[in-house]
Amino acid sequence: MVQSYSKNANHNMRRPVVKEEVVRYMRTRQKGNEGYLAELEAFAHRENIPIIPQETVAYFRFLMQTMQPKKILEIGTAIGFSALLMAENAPQSKITTIDRNEEMIGFAKENFAKYDSRNQIRLLEGDAADILSRLKETYDFVFMDSAKSKYIVFLPEVLERLAVGGVVVLDDVFQGGDIARPIEEVRRGQRTIYRGLQRLFDATLKHPNLTATLVPLGDGLLMIRKNIPEIKLAD
Ligand SMILES: C[S@@+](CC[C@H](N)C(=O)[O-])C[C@H]1O[C@@H](n2cnc3c(N)ncnc32)[C@H](O)[C@@H]1O
Repeated sequence: MVQSYSKNANHNMRRPVVKEEVVRYMRTRQKGNEGYLAELEAFAHRENIPIIPQETVAYFRFLMQTMQPKKILEIGTAIGFSALLMAENAPQSKITTIDRNEEMIGFAKENFAKYDSRNQIRLLEGDAADILSRLKETYDFVFMDSAKSKYIVFLPEVLERLAVGGVVVLDDVFQGGDIARPIEEVRRGQRTIYRGLQRLFDATLKHPNLTATLVPLGDGLLMIRKNIPEIKLAD
């Protein structure tokens, strides 16, 4: 049994930010996962491991096939589900993915050995806080899916390594809708994340040199396009 996630994990995934029946409709009407991705999805659900939900999968499939990024960076590998999904739909891409949880790293290694048939994925083990500054490459797509309070901390390093015209997607930015409420109405244990996300939105949504959009899929995506080489984020 997986130790890292309890049955109470993924609290916000059970608080849909759009009507429940619409989420259900999207999940049943859109193409689902097939083959090993369906197996990994079933495993993740059984063990409460948070992976991107079905409607985000459909969107990523579309994005990858349309953008065909060559260099992808992911922060938050878990069992390797989203990395394998991106690899499958952007077959020319090379993907660097980072995780610090030993148990997840064990599953990801096993899954990449079995299913990364084109050898597209490189797994870096450790905290993104230490690893990001050592990355020398430039990426055209970055998927940030790690601790949400740290998004604003990691973003400057990520933007430095992003090509002009490149896109960053940050997952789970709505906190099940809490983000739209005053802080006094947010559970105390969730307030650090709330503050981190508000800082992230302040720094990006109306930035003159970024194009940003909020997309209500899953628990919300923030998507950012880098428009000029040097981006300075307000503190
Ligand atoms: C939501 S899961 C990733 C799910 C995966 N992207 C998917 O959809 O298949 C988040 C992962 O981020 C990792 N993580 C969180 N903070 C991190 C950090 N600072 N550095 C590296 N990994 C981190 C956790 O260990 C966890 O495995």
